Amino acid sequence: MKKTCLAIIAALVIALGGVIYMFGLRGQVRESDDGRTAILLSAGERDLMLSEMRGFLEAVQEIAEALPQGDMKTVAEAAARVGRVDLNDLPASLLRKLPGEVKKLGLNTHYKFHQLSKDVKNGLAKEKVLPRLAGIMTNCVGCHAGYRLDLEPGAGKP
Ligand code: HEC
Repeated sequence: MKKTCLAIIAALVIALGGVIYMFGLRGQVRESDDGRTAILLSAGERDLMLSEMRGFLEAVQEIAEALPQGDMKTVAEAAARVGRVDLNDLPASLLRKLPGEVKKLGLNTHYKFHQLSKDVKNGLAKEKVLPRLAGIMTNCVGCHAGYRLDLEPGAGKP
């Protein structure tokens, strides 16, 4: 009797682990033809994610322009703008569909911009900014090499 109980509990724990993996860590994904993992999103979720990406690119451009002019205020402001993310502002459905690694890399990218902005405000030397930005951009390159965004079945637009 005790053994049966333990077996049932073990089976439940394994099933729960599977559900957590599917919905939390694995995300909603499938392999794509170009070798990357495609994350399957609704049109709105993809638009939201891409607009966040364009925010990253804008920040990188502003930093690259302001840095040679020694305009550290603009550098700090541009980094600060992409240095925060409120998970409560993101739809729960999107968080569920993103693989754990993508969420981690995304949050880490925001965090590194936040740190950069703080350090620049505290007087980080101008010549140290570009190496830091290059370091942050390994996150961009790494994530883009591994993932793309596709529409989930039934999401409409091609
Ligand atoms: C955690 C993953 C991740 C990180 C980190 C990341 N991106 Fe992206 N980004 C993506 C994905 C996925 C796409 C969609 C690519 C596709 O579908 O081919 C994308 C798309 C983009 C696009 C296209 C936007 C559009 O409107 O089509 C730009 C620009 C971009 N990223 C810039 C950046 C920059 C700059 C950084 C770093 C500062 C960055 N991204 C970091 C995942 C990431």
